[in-house]
Amino acid sequence: MGSDRTRGMRRGLTSYGDPAFSLYLRKAFIKAMGYSDDALDRTIVGIANTFSGYNACHRNAPELCEAIKRGVMLAGGLPVEFPTISLHESFSHPTSMFLRNLMAMDTEEMIRAQPMDSVVLIGGCDKTVPAQLMAAASADIPAIQVVTGPMVTGSYRGERLGACTDCRRYWGMHRAGDVDQAEIEEISGKLAPTAGTCMVMGTASTMACMTEALGMMLPDGAAIPAIAADRLRHAEAAGRRAVALAEDGLAPSKIMTSAAFANALRVLLAVGGSSNGLVHITAVAGRLGIEVDLEAFDRMGRETPVLVDLKPSGQHYMEDLQNAGGMTAVLRELEPLLDLNCLTVSGKTLGENLAAAPSSWEQSVVRPINSPVHPQGGIAVLRGNLAPDGAIIKQSAALPALFKHRGHAVVFDSLEDLAARIDDPNLQLSADDVLVLRNAGPKGAPGMPEAGYIPIPKKLASEGVNDMVRISDARMSGTAFGTVVLHVTPEAAVGGPLALVRTGDLIELDVEARRLQLEVDAAELERRRAAWRPPRIPHGASRGYLKLYLQHVTQADRGADFDFMLPPLNGRMTP
Ligand code: FES
Repeated sequence: MGSDRTRGMRRGLTSYGDPAFSLYLRKAFIKAMGYSDDALDRTIVGIANTFSGYNACHRNAPELCEAIKRGVMLAGGLPVEFPTISLHESFSHPTSMFLRNLMAMDTEEMIRAQPMDSVVLIGGCDKTVPAQLMAAASADIPAIQVVTGPMVTGSYRGERLGACTDCRRYWGMHRAGDVDQAEIEEISGKLAPTAGTCMVMGTASTMACMTEALGMMLPDGAAIPAIAADRLRHAEAAGRRAVALAEDGLAPSKIMTSAAFANALRVLLAVGGSSNGLVHITAVAGRLGIEVDLEAFDRMGRETPVLVDLKPSGQHYMEDLQNAGGMTAVLRELEPLLDLNCLTVSGKTLGENLAAAPSSWEQSVVRPINSPVHPQGGIAVLRGNLAPDGAIIKQSAALPALFKHRGHAVVFDSLEDLAARIDDPNLQLSADDVLVLRNAGPKGAPGMPEAGYIPIPKKLASEGVNDMVRISDARMSGTAFGTVVLHVTPEAAVGGPLALVRTGDLIELDVEARRLQLEVDAAELERRRAAWRPPRIPHGASRGYLKLYLQHVTQADRGADFDFMLPPLNGRMTP
């Protein structure tokens, strides 16, 4: 074993007060794994293996792990896999967002605690990649992100199906009475037909694309299907590269710069990505003291067209994006709007990666920049007296006829209130009304669940209404669609203006003017504020992780990370 105390098995020794004894004991135990002295003398690459029996999106993590190990060994290193928390959207009560910060802390501390010179992070499902990038930013040892990759599409009676845009579409039809119980059961067996992540441009796909643009993933790793042989070759390449990355000492903070975050935000807009991408990338940037400038992001949105024609905004699926040239095709079209000098985990700049990639070909999934799917980016930032610190709308998934709309509020005070009353036949409302859900933000729900996609009340759905203006302090799944205003900040549970809205108030949404306004005069709002009381503390909040979460989670505009995980902002903002 080399004598460098900062490398390999000598890194971060357990504290026994005698470093030589600590190393001796460590070697004694690691030898029980059957390693030779030669193996233990190599560059060590940790592999965060997030396989879990509860996480079908990570079903292929073990074979990716084997491919990464092969790559590490081909490059002369020693791979050592280790487990961390794994989160799947449908198996995370009350919501995976509540647990994202816990996974980030777990991953960061395991990277720090265990001896490794670099780390390959296997993520995929929505919150796992953000958590791993947050961890990588904070631990700041060389790191490469590998994703499990998207599922390939299923088929139902000749129709191509994908999770979970089509899950929602069919559920909407079921609610409207057009699809019966037996059929909806049959469809549920077709929506997620393989290992991998949701194959539309939901949060998992969005985060994969943004991670590649950010420079934390090897080129073209975002869209390869989970079950493709190329996915394993990509993993092998990541393992191989992780050895060189360790030797170069190319840490995440050198890759995830303000300019790199701006590239990732451009890609979020250009792929028509999930609104969750914004809150997650804000959290990752925050770990490096970098602030996402929402005004700059909105300006970016006005000049960045949507180029990728994928569901839920468009028609195709992730395997089609891969067949169209993957992220290289997207980044090539976006070149004039990107900072090509940003360094990536390949050791080359983004521009060099693009120059080295195979040439693009004619296809219909990634549009040319002068003939986009939408002329403006997928997400707009709204301000107004209802959202002083901002709110967002995924305009690419919204109904243009509702972009400028004035309507009376129908207020739901909580998720429970929504569930209890939304389908009440006596609920007084019309399609022109504005559905408002509050106390569903980071502290309110808690965990800022994906409840912003408020269902169309059954009695309106059955009349054929399929979209209404909906406003909340919650998030929305990237696979959902509709005229849905999200992330209203500050949230109602901390006394944001959303807490003061009453059923019958007029609300104006003007997407073009970026305005969200509650048409109630200031004096009346002050009276309501004086009478406002915070919602009751949730059950179980006197101890444990929930207590920690409620005390320290930040608002959406700071990424809903924990305040104590953030370094002081260093004045760096995304351009
Ligand atoms: Fe895992 Fe959709 S549930 S990516």
